[in-house]
Amino acid sequence: MRILLLAAHPRSSQSIAQRALTEAARAVKGVTARDLYAVYPDFNINADAEQALLLEHDIIVLQHPFYWYSAPAIIKEWLDIVLESGWAYGDGGTKLHGKYLVNALTTGGRESFYHPEGRNRFTVEELLAPFNQSAHLCGMAYLKPFVVYAARKQTREDLTAEAEAYRDWLSGLAEGRIDPTENLAEGYVLPEGFKRRHAL
Ligand SMILES: Cc1cc2nc3c(=O)[nH]c(=O)nc-3n(C[C@H](O)[C@H](O)[C@H](O)COP(=O)(O)O)c2cc1C
Repeated sequence: MRILLLAAHPRSSQSIAQRALTEAARAVKGVTARDLYAVYPDFNINADAEQALLLEHDIIVLQHPFYWYSAPAIIKEWLDIVLESGWAYGDGGTKLHGKYLVNALTTGGRESFYHPEGRNRFTVEELLAPFNQSAHLCGMAYLKPFVVYAARKQTREDLTAEAEAYRDWLSGLAEGRIDPTENLAEGYVLPEGFKRRHAL
């Protein structure tokens, strides 16, 4: 499967964790990696160009640090501009049907914080509900997120191991060794009529 990886970090020169993930992803065959803040420093997102890229890929990975329990602003702008009515959803909006969406994120908070009794009260998957439902509206399968918790508290060795796990996960998806429909987000029900894509 062809993977479109949209990476978003507003201060990439200060990034440690996202940078490690992006470097790992760039080494995977079948991954088209784009840095949204570098491509669109003025937020002037080109809907036609982004839609053309979406059509060429099967799995869309939104890779970002967790910011205010969500993604950095350019990801929201990308969703607002690119996923147009009549194209991605609504009457005749079928272009993304059968594709996959997944968030790959790094958090500042520890995994234990993301729990009903923890300080963040909700799990990461619960907080990602708008992505989950947006995927559903667009006829896509929404996958279990790839999460690196407490990313800035990791030792260099642990972060390297996380980046390797990320590379293996992406290459497993790209090469068809990992079946994305076996890795849906918790409780996710595929949209009606969802057609599985087979590994290339
Ligand atoms: C504006 C801002 C908002 C943040 N919001 C959250 C948050 O809601 N939850 C969390 O766990 N970490 C939060 N963090 C921490 C970042 O997610 C963390 O530092 C980042 O994932 C580390 O990756 P990096 O080294 O690539 O920057 C926030 C950081 C910033 C600067």
